[in-house]
Order: sequence, then structure tokens, then C-alpha cells
Amino acid sequence: MYLKSSEKRVPITPKGSLNITQNTENTEIELLLEGVYRSYGFDFREYARSSIRRRVKKQMSDEKLKSISELQAKILHDEAYMERFLTNVSINVTSMFRDPSFYLAFREKVVPVLKTYPSVRVWVAGCSTGEEVYSLAILLHQENLLKKSRIYGTDINQNVLNKAKSGIYDLENMKEYSKNHLAAGGKEPFSNYYNAKYGSVVMKGFLKRNLFFHNHNLATDASFNEFNVILCRNVMIYFDEILQNKTHKMFYESLCKFGFLVLGRKETIKFSDYECHYETIDASNRIYRRVEK
Ligand SMILES: C[S@@+](CC[C@H](N)C(=O)[O-])C[C@H]1O[C@@H](n2cnc3c(N)ncnc32)[C@H](O)[C@@H]1O
Repeated sequence: MYLKSSEKRVPITPKGSLNITQNTENTEIELLLEGVYRSYGFDFREYARSSIRRRVKKQMSDEKLKSISELQAKILHDEAYMERFLTNVSINVTSMFRDPSFYLAFREKVVPVLKTYPSVRVWVAGCSTGEEVYSLAILLHQENLLKKSRIYGTDINQNVLNKAKSGIYDLENMKEYSKNHLAAGGKEPFSNYYNAKYGSVVMKGFLKRNLFFHNHNLATDASFNEFNVILCRNVMIYFDEILQNKTHKMFYESLCKFGFLVLGRKETIKFSDYECHYETIDASNRIYRRVEK
């Protein structure tokens, strides 16, 4: 006999003495996610449950709460708790030229194709605070492509998008980003792309001109354009298989013929329902190209 649970069907022992604590916890997480969805419209119901559980426990410990139900009540009655929940579960870790070998491969294998197009539309889905978008803008500028490109950065978290729009980052990270930029095949000094002010840097205006940041939820919103390139790195790793497939459907339908899809290092198109619609351009850097059947 089994109890229904969206994570896994949990077996009840013949005596009915199932792991009650774990089962109650699963139920509480489901109720919490359902409540968040109904009250705030953020849909985390199809996120990988192991990651959600870790984040929920972290918030419980940070807020000194004893149970998930207690956290649920706080979140449903107080937007400040919801804001912290969103920050906590959306995991906004990012950096400039993260995984430099990807940018190098992009320069070598994707840029020559983009150079043959009259215009280039790029969607960076789950762009967090924007470092990935600025990295791409710098690369496209160096390849003489930025002027004819439009890069759309989207995320579910409005706070990170506000930071992305401002283009203001900590000066102390620039040393590491400069190293990444060089390893990514950077052609000019990295410091050409920002002005330093006190402990911060502001990305230069010419980079921002063709960047557009918008709120967009991959779990609930539809596509909004057709793109030559879609980057969605280190986002779908937090989704369960069903949501990953839904997202792949949207990306497939949003890509132009022969458009490029880029995933994160720990993500793959393999084993998804859309695997057969892509050819692999660079396996280790997770660059794929839409093929026509
Ligand atoms: C770990 S960051 C990755 C940032 C960047 N792509 C990178 O690789 O450095 C994941 C981002 O995905 C966003 N995210 C999570 N779920 C999302 C969803 N359903 N729709 C859009 N963005 C989402 C989070 O808010 C977070 O900013």
C-alpha cells in the first residue's frame, strides 16, 4: 500500500507504521508549496524536492521555527517571509564568465554562425543579477555583434532583476572576473567595460544599450519572442523531470530554425523528450542546435 506524494510514493509497512516523520514532512512541504502558489502565484510545485527540502529547512533554522507548518503560516500571513522564501529557494549564485570554457566554445562555434545573420536575438532565462548577460554582451561586443543584437535577461525574482538593470557590482569580484574573462578568450582588458566608484563598479552604458531585463517565470509564463540563442544555465537543475520537459518544450518552440540552446554544466538535453530535436555542438559545454526533422 502507498501514500500519494509528489516526490515519491511512500510505502506504508503492513502494520501501518510508516516513517511518519518523513511522511508528515513531505505533506507539509506539498501544502507549503500549494499555499505559496495560491497566495502569491509562484509555482515551485514541480521543483526537485530534495533541493526544496534543504532550502525550507534552512529558512526554518534561520527564522528559528520548529515546523514547516509554522513556516507556512508565517509565509501566508506576512509578505516579508515570502520575500525571504523566494530569495532562499531561487538560489541566485552567479558570476561573470562563469565556466570560461563555455564562452570560449561559444566564440569558436556559435559566433561564426551569428555573424551571418542580419540581427541576433538572445534569451538568457534565469539570469539572476545579470552577470551572465553582461558577460555575453562583452563577448558580442568584442566580436562586433553587439550592435545588431538584443539580449533579453529574465528571472522570477524582481530583486535580482533590479540589480541586473543597475549593472552595479562589487569591485572586489573584478579580479576573479578578469581572470575568467581572459580564460574565456577576452580580447581587451576587462577593466574597459566598467567604471569603478568607491567599492563598486558600474558596467558601461554602451553595453547596456541592447539589454532588456524582464520578470518571467519558466514554470508559469509563455514564451515572448523567437530567438537565435537561448541560454538557460544552472536553472533547470532545480526543476523536476516534468517541469524540465515543459521548459524544454517552451525553449524548442521559442528557438528559430537552427537556433542554439545552451544549458549549465550539470544539465543536459539527453533523456529529455526534446533530445531528438537537437544536435550536439559541444557536449562538455552543453551547446546544442535545433535541427529540423
Ligand atoms: C543559480 S542561478 C543561475 C544564474 C545564471 N544563469 C548562471 O548560470 O550563473 C538560478 C536563477 O534561476 C532563477 N529561477 C529559478 N526558477 C525560475 C523560474 N521558474 N523562472 C525563471 N527563473 C527562475 C533564480 O531566481 C536564479 O536567479
